[in-house]
Amino acid sequence: MRVAVKINGQPSTVNVEPSRLLVELLRDRLRLTGTKFACETSVCGACTVLLDGRAVKSCTILAVQVDGRDVTTIEGLSADGLTTVQQAFRAEHAVQCGFCTPGMVVSVTALIGEDENPTDDRIRAALEGNLCRCTGYAGILRAVRYAAAVQRGETPIAQAGRALESPLASREVTPVQVRASDVEVV
Ligand code: FES
Ligand code: FES
Repeated sequence: MRVAVKINGQPSTVNVEPSRLLVELLRDRLRLTGTKFACETSVCGACTVLLDGRAVKSCTILAVQVDGRDVTTIEGLSADGLTTVQQAFRAEHAVQCGFCTPGMVVSVTALIGEDENPTDDRIRAALEGNLCRCTGYAGILRAVRYAAAVQRGETPIAQAGRALESPLASREVTPVQVRASDVEVV
């Protein structure tokens, strides 16, 4: 089937099998390998991309479903250099492994686009579908706060390294708070 889709701002027309997943189209056909294919079961969020500006899991969507739509991958986000979110991840030491980080950055980009002043609960909810099984979420939570502040026109001071002194430290997100059963598949 022919699919006309804008990918990272570039109009493309591709022939795909009806059963081909969006993540497979991105990675295998278009070589956009920043989008990861990890759990393959709609749980981990490593395959998250923006579809018309909304964060979605590309392993839950058929390639034919993006016909006429706008897909942005992690490569497209940083075409003009590091974005506000990526700079925030760097400032707050939130960059983790290459599997979880691209999806985290995409999800945070969608969140910050919708809400320049998200509460910590909203941040946690927005990241429920992005799992890290080995490190943690404290730096990521700080990075989202940082990015949101920049988005509001403020000049935040990075809190990396100060987390243990912060009263917020006791409320940092831990992996156990993120459960696969809470993931909403979009
Ligand atoms: S690979 Fe899509 S959610 Fe894990
Ligand atoms: S899955 Fe990436 S650091 Fe844990």
